[in-house]
Amino acid sequence: MAFRCLATRIKPNGPGLSGAVTTLSTSSFRASLQPMKRPYSTHQSREGGSNIMLFVGLTALGGAGHYYYRQNPNLFGTAKKVNSEPVDYEQVYKDISAILENNDVSIFVNHSYDDGSYGPVLLRLAWHASGTYDVETKTGGSNSASMRFEPEASHGANNGLKIARDLLEPIKAKYPGISYGDLWTLAGVCAIQELGGPSISWRPGRTDGLNAESCARDGLLPDATKKENHIRDIFYRMGFDDQEIVALTGAHALGRCHPDRSGFDGPWSEQPTLFSNEYYKVISERQWVKKDLENGGWQWVDKSNPSVMMLPAEIAMFNDKEFRKYFELYAKDQDKFFKDFAKAFGKLIELGVPFKGDEKVYKFEPVDA
Ligand code: HEM
Repeated sequence: MAFRCLATRIKPNGPGLSGAVTTLSTSSFRASLQPMKRPYSTHQSREGGSNIMLFVGLTALGGAGHYYYRQNPNLFGTAKKVNSEPVDYEQVYKDISAILENNDVSIFVNHSYDDGSYGPVLLRLAWHASGTYDVETKTGGSNSASMRFEPEASHGANNGLKIARDLLEPIKAKYPGISYGDLWTLAGVCAIQELGGPSISWRPGRTDGLNAESCARDGLLPDATKKENHIRDIFYRMGFDDQEIVALTGAHALGRCHPDRSGFDGPWSEQPTLFSNEYYKVISERQWVKKDLENGGWQWVDKSNPSVMMLPAEIAMFNDKEFRKYFELYAKDQDKFFKDFAKAFGKLIELGVPFKGDEKVYKFEPVDA
């Protein structure tokens, strides 16, 4: 069942970069969740004929109309139709590739440049936008780009992704015809390919949700503190099998955990900006010891290089007989990993997207091959 947000009064993240590092405080977010008061009374006065009541009623009605218009600007057909302009997706890809390593923009988006690339955080955005899909109810997925709205923007699982969303705003401004859902998934494809990963087929067709009603409910993405069966429940709900789950998790060859986002700390390998099967080699070849974290949690670290880490859920997956055979397969065979990853990731970013069927399928040439 689709989750309906109460927070229809909350606006999406603005398009400008000026607010790039600000987030809605918990108190203002809660305040904005207060249910709307009815703008006018339906009770007729028995005394009748009160001009004051009529005036108050009409004023309130006008106010409500103005408010409703602001929330639904397309209703009266006067808003700019953002999705009607043709888009040069090849050029969008090239523009995204150009910002992956452009540290100049870090002044706007704070400390996200980590290891020399914005690729990992962009890939995480594409995945979290898509991974809310539910195969039974056919809700969620990348179609509406609902993470632009509260409360989804502030779901704990999405901590840090405002950096990625803000980073793409100048590209959205340059190509107003692209939907956010298309832009975010295309950025994920670009990140994978430019950081050395396999070629991923991509096609446009996502339409943006207009307001918070499109938000996914909290709790649909995997919880890294849990065990293998939780991971199965989450990914089976999206329609993936064990092999696809292990293949997708290989994306952790890229990037790192941040104490201020997930609470975990560190990369999964010594080369967090190179897409390869290194993740599987690291998890199967190293000796893992538990490390307590300052925030009260814990993670696994490599005994001989404690800066390299694994999440509790990942070692639980690795210790599962069914999952283990795929970890071992991909550790030995990078080509097989690339092939399976490309297929599973292509499926992930298309979950819940109502394609018409005649969209052009793109295979973008890596710029930095
Ligand atoms: C077993 C399921 C998964 C769990 C429990 C999990 C959990 C996490 C956590 C806790 C982080 C750290 C976030 C931070 O602190 O910045 C993270 C980062 C990341 N995840 Fe996952 N994830 C899973 C699956 C996936 C999948 C399927 C993909 C993509 C296909 C993915 C791509 C990434 C990337 C690229 C990062 C690095 C982001 C950065 O460096 O900023 N993850 N994940």
